[in-house]
Amino acid sequence: MKLTNALLGEHAVIYELFDYLRDTILKSDDIQDIYGATAVVERLLLSHAQIEENLLFPRLEPHLGQMGPLAVMRAEHRQIDELFEAARRETDIDALRSVIGNLLELAFGHFQKEEQVLFAMARQHLDEATLTDLGDEWAVSRNVTINR
Ligand SMILES: [Fe+2]
Ligand SMILES: [Fe+2]
Repeated sequence: MKLTNALLGEHAVIYELFDYLRDTILKSDDIQDIYGATAVVERLLLSHAQIEENLLFPRLEPHLGQMGPLAVMRAEHRQIDELFEAARRETDIDALRSVIGNLLELAFGHFQKEEQVLFAMARQHLDEATLTDLGDEWAVSRNVTINR
């Protein structure tokens, strides 16, 4: 499996978690519920971003350079980290809802850019064998068995 397909599959699952977190901030008046839902999304999103930064971005760098789309994607990963940190520190429930609303908006836009621009560039610049080898590395880091 190509790494880009693995990452798209992760996006699909994380979109479901974004909906879950949005439902929680809309429906729950218990700040602990909101912290709990946020922690689940944070764990998955951070490991997803790490996989992109460790496996995909370094392979694209020779083709795209350090600036441009890779710099934007890395900066957005940092901004998302900072919003999770702000959410962990926030003790006012309405302010917390607002931080999480911003986080969801940023993360959704980030995913859209990756799908529409970055992953398309990856398929353009990296050949099928490279993307498949990177897919094998993804499987190791996620403990998924691939038979090929
Ligand atoms: Fe990303
Ligand atoms: Fe992503």
